[in-house]
Amino acid sequence: MGQKKINIALAGATGAVGDQMITCLEEREFPIKSIKLLASRRSAGRKLNFNGQSIEVEELTENSFKGIDIALFSAGGSTSKKFAPIAAKSGCIVIDNSSAWRMDPAVPLVVPEVNPQAIADYTNKGIIANPNCSTIQMVVALFPIHKQFKIKRIVVSTYQAVSGTGKKAIAELFDQTRAMINFLDIKKNVYPHRIAFNCLPHIDQFEENGYTKEEMKMVNETRKIMEDDTIGITATTVRVPVFFSHSEAVNVETVKPVSAARVQDLLKNAPGVKLVDDPSNNLYPLAIDAAGHDLTFVGRIRDDESLENGINLWIVADNIRKGAATNAVQIAELLAQQYL
Ligand code: A2P
Repeated sequence: MGQKKINIALAGATGAVGDQMITCLEEREFPIKSIKLLASRRSAGRKLNFNGQSIEVEELTENSFKGIDIALFSAGGSTSKKFAPIAAKSGCIVIDNSSAWRMDPAVPLVVPEVNPQAIADYTNKGIIANPNCSTIQMVVALFPIHKQFKIKRIVVSTYQAVSGTGKKAIAELFDQTRAMINFLDIKKNVYPHRIAFNCLPHIDQFEENGYTKEEMKMVNETRKIMEDDTIGITATTVRVPVFFSHSEAVNVETVKPVSAARVQDLLKNAPGVKLVDDPSNNLYPLAIDAAGHDLTFVGRIRDDESLENGINLWIVADNIRKGAATNAVQIAELLAQQYL
């Protein structure tokens, strides 16, 4: 990229997503002029590596954003709610990974493979929202289908990795698994139930309608990103004892006639998608294969024999990379290339 070099701040640099944001910026050779690593007071003074340089973590404060062009936030919803407007007021553009700003009509919610044009609306509040991890991978796979066949309804069930809850949850699955196989007592801190060797149909808080916030994020964010409020969506989101990568079983009903063969053809060349669909050789997307990659893996594409125009798919992606850090850095790249 032969363009302007950018002053970057990373809020939540010591977290699971922050870690990966550092790696993504390095791997993609983002044109950086300077980088500021921010976290809570607990981490101030810690050193992190960026491109072989040791950089001291600073406490996130109201004065952290002077001279910054783009601030990547992944430090939780309440931190974003408070500090994103402060950062924007200091003149930088915030790309926020929390759910705090996603459904604000003035804030664009962007998946570069789907609605890169929405980035232009960053001027409204100086904030761009990075969508929910499960939603990102689903819309990357479904948007080409929507364009071609018009999606009427989506039924999705997720199998979500613990890394989506952050570093403490990764440690909890590890510790509980070790305790289980050593017949030791189990400790629960992050989740209300044991996650090791279990599945929890509970991600984020329950809402009045009986769905969880995570489920409603999938409904509302999908419509906003695909810019189509007519799509019917219903979701069941489940936490499973997997460290990295979310998997999703998705049933789609379309308005126009669709077939598994046509969808396979379409997804072969879709941006950000890797088709892995060769069941006769036991080839289908797996969490362990998607981990560490940026593509959304799609397979098990079948005609839904109970519907006139329906298909089933299995969609897998690394929730920390494409589901969070990579998507945010892709947005930053487009900002740097086209708007700054
Ligand atoms: P810290 O490590 O100092 O607590 P994860 O999602 O893995 O739990 O990480 C959350 C990230 O958000 C960490 O970098 C954490 O910093 C940061 N964070 C949490 N609360 C605050 C806060 N009040 N101010 C700044 N950073 C915060």
